[in-house]
Amino acid sequence: MKNIKQSAAWLLFALSGTGTPLLAQQLITVNTKSNALVLEVNKDKELGTIYFGEKLEKEADYSRVSAQYHQGNEYTGIYNSAYTPAGSKNLFEPAIAVTHADGNISLSLHYVSHTTKAVSKDVSQTEIVLKDPVYAFEVHLFIKTFYANDIMEQWATIKHTEKGNVTLTKYASANLYLKGNNDFYLNQYHGDWAREMNPEQSHLTHGIKVLDSKLGTRADLFQPPVFMVSLEKPAGEDEGKVLMGGLEWAGNFRNEFEVDPLNNLRIISGINNASANYVLKKGENFTTPKFWYTLSTHGKGQASRNIHNWARDYKILDGKGDRMTLLNNWEATYFDFDETKLKELIADSKKLGVDLFLLDDGWFGNTHPRNGDTAGLGDWQENKKKLPNGIGTLVQSAKDNKVKFGIWIEPEMVNPKSDLYKQHPDWVVKQEGRPEHYFRNQLVLDLTNPKVQDFVYGVVDNLFTKNPELAYIKWDCNAVIYNANSKYLKENQGNFYTDYVKGLYSVLQRIRTKYPKVPMMLCSGGGGRVDYGTLEYFTEFWPSDNTDPMERIYMQWEYSYFYPALATAAHVTDWGKQPIKFRTDVAMMGRLGFDIVVKHLNDTDLQYCQEAIQNYNALRNTIWHGDQYRLQSPYEADAASVAYVSKDSNEAVVFTYLVKNRYEAGTHTPIKLKGLKADAQYKVEEINVYPGKKPAVETAIYSGDFLMKVGINPNVNTYNTSVVLKLTQV
Ligand code: DGJ
Repeated sequence: MKNIKQSAAWLLFALSGTGTPLLAQQLITVNTKSNALVLEVNKDKELGTIYFGEKLEKEADYSRVSAQYHQGNEYTGIYNSAYTPAGSKNLFEPAIAVTHADGNISLSLHYVSHTTKAVSKDVSQTEIVLKDPVYAFEVHLFIKTFYANDIMEQWATIKHTEKGNVTLTKYASANLYLKGNNDFYLNQYHGDWAREMNPEQSHLTHGIKVLDSKLGTRADLFQPPVFMVSLEKPAGEDEGKVLMGGLEWAGNFRNEFEVDPLNNLRIISGINNASANYVLKKGENFTTPKFWYTLSTHGKGQASRNIHNWARDYKILDGKGDRMTLLNNWEATYFDFDETKLKELIADSKKLGVDLFLLDDGWFGNTHPRNGDTAGLGDWQENKKKLPNGIGTLVQSAKDNKVKFGIWIEPEMVNPKSDLYKQHPDWVVKQEGRPEHYFRNQLVLDLTNPKVQDFVYGVVDNLFTKNPELAYIKWDCNAVIYNANSKYLKENQGNFYTDYVKGLYSVLQRIRTKYPKVPMMLCSGGGGRVDYGTLEYFTEFWPSDNTDPMERIYMQWEYSYFYPALATAAHVTDWGKQPIKFRTDVAMMGRLGFDIVVKHLNDTDLQYCQEAIQNYNALRNTIWHGDQYRLQSPYEADAASVAYVSKDSNEAVVFTYLVKNRYEAGTHTPIKLKGLKADAQYKVEEINVYPGKKPAVETAIYSGDFLMKVGINPNVNTYNTSVVLKLTQV
């Protein structure tokens, strides 16, 4: 179906009153609820971006935008290319670079045609065909719009029919162009194990800033593939223009930000081309991962709510569904457990009142028992000493206790001390003749190899076949890829990093075909791996092994810009020095779980946890599916405050946590709420009050108007270090 507005092609517009001659323009306009992306085919058939921003009232006005800007130096090619090819006229950082079958390295892309089709009521997809006028090489650019959520996704399919292989030396997903005046502010993140998602903000200067990963598997370990760019000035929660985006890819990525000589910003995002020249055979299609982005003119809060809605509606597996609270045994036992101990923990899950018991690492391996992290990975048979009656008896025990049972796996990996390593050395990613380098004493299996894909699929399938009532999988991934090399790929080693992720996705697709909805947690030694490509197969992710609630307040604050609470696993553990109430209140901001020894809790702590879980169950729909408002930043005040408001605004929950411990630290003024109905009355009551303690806030009724204009003081201080308020419309 052709978009009528877009097909009003080759319109002639007179540039008013300037005496400028008539200009032939073909515009391709792609709209969401608030924004428009306008591409132009110039007289040389090159595709450029002339506008991305708030929609103009009159469609015809887009043709007049370019004339307001300096167009640049004709010798450098086009500045605003919508997909910059390398090696011919363009002298900017390319989105795509190739070596043709004859060895030539030039590329030029000319517009051929475009179509737009409706995918559903709210979603449409534009496909633009670009061709090299000299070589049998073409690129199809895709732009998918999620109208109501103001989200766009872009990607490219690359193909050729040249006489021989073409090597792609760069193959980005998207090439955005934002007009500005050298006034772009980048929010990026950095981290490492147990200290994920540390934000940094900088004014982008001329030249290229690159955020990337070359780690292969745990691609986010040092830098995640998500970012924000504020336009004009750094955006706040409710004001300012901000673009948020990220690559949907579990592997190496590269995000480039180039302020060009015209002071505009070029953003190129895609698979990292470092050590990854991709050999593309004649007739084969190469489809890049998708790059998602949203633009908000009402600050970061609106942008993140757009993302949460989109993620739940279209991306995260079962995003509209329910989640389970759980008790995990990792920090309660580490590798030191047996059937008796686990059965006690299963009974504890029931006592606590959670939905599921999750058995973590250490349950497998016989020749090389998994009693530590040095052996056993790859040998996915129950350890006979620890579990003489297998997993089945644990599943049964869970059933008897009316809780579900879940299990940990790390199927992409192998310990050199394992039967698998000895039986299939050719399945392991390593360089013959070079010493093996280990990350957590393990190596990565070569998922480019279909036999390895079958093996990894089999790990999951066997578990479900033997234990049909298994209800949850935690999929871990603890090593990066050293010595990237595949026996299977032979001479095309440049394809390795990309084909690894494609192999992983193919396995996950097979799993989802057979087990469409079983909840799976995406874990990578903490938050080393999360993106919207992978979350299509997973119901939630593990943000960090660091569960110190003080750290989690900051981490969850940052993650929450990009991922909704229902996908963000948050567990109460013994990390940190805070009382159980504080730890639990912080974990309630996400998908609540526990990783503690329940029998170590004193009676009051246990009672508190049981009541908190019941409170959570009553509110979890609002936390998981409602709108999130970050009310008070932990970076700017003594206390952080976050609210979740149900979609109908009938119910809300407000979490406030003390983050400073100086004398008199606390909330001395009311915190203004958001997203309520001004004319409705709300009962405000404190929940999660520690047994025997006086509530910090007295139950009372307020209007939405009052709560949003004056606010409410949760009375957080060094005595009440966390306060949870529940609002119910009366
Ligand atoms: C790393 C994960 O992040 C932890 O939660 C735990 O599952 C360990 N791996 C187990 O080895």
